[in-house]
Amino acid sequence: MEIRYRAIGVVHSPFDRLEGMPIQPTSEACAPGVIEVFPEFVEGLQDLEGFSHVIVLYHLHRVRGWKPKVTPFLEDRERGVFATRAPTRPNPIGLSVLELEKIEGGRLHLVKVDILDGAPVLDLKPFVPQFDVPDGARAGWFEGLRQDIRTTTSDQRFSEPSEDP
Ligand SMILES: C[S@@+](CC[C@H](N)C(=O)[O-])C[C@H]1O[C@@H](n2cnc3c(N)ncnc32)[C@H](O)[C@@H]1O
Repeated sequence: MEIRYRAIGVVHSPFDRLEGMPIQPTSEACAPGVIEVFPEFVEGLQDLEGFSHVIVLYHLHRVRGWKPKVTPFLEDRERGVFATRAPTRPNPIGLSVLELEKIEGGRLHLVKVDILDGAPVLDLKPFVPQFDVPDGARAGWFEGLRQDIRTTTSDQRFSEPSEDP
């Protein structure tokens, strides 16, 4: 089944190349950014400013292809793609929980972003700790990591075109 979505906005960030950019919003390499919401959707931003963080769902627009096993940035062994946050996925949808500084008209000013410039935004949702931080959450293989998420940055490993398996 094919599903089509339309962009509700676009990400403006200082990152125009994959090399050296942050891999998650907790990275020290993150920088301020803006989401520009298109005029027809701006009314839907009412009441969002009361939330400290927003869940941003976006199209990873520079991804080509995917593989069922990937070697994540933080590891040197393969993992199943659905057990990772790798950008190369059957549906290249990115998810970032971002701190909201302020909203001016249709512009969301974000304290730190980990998203490539120009990424089309699919949806915005408020981050609600009561819903989104489950009691007793476990982090699988991430719990054994030796690499520091805050200082690890992106390389080009996911930028090569790969065939659909
Ligand atoms: C590991 S993914 C995580 C993205 C998101 N926080 C998530 O968990 O879905 C972040 C990496 O994806 C790549 N990336 C970010 N934005 C992208 C885009 N618009 N198109 C292709 N790759 C992108 C960069 O290599 C970046 O370091």
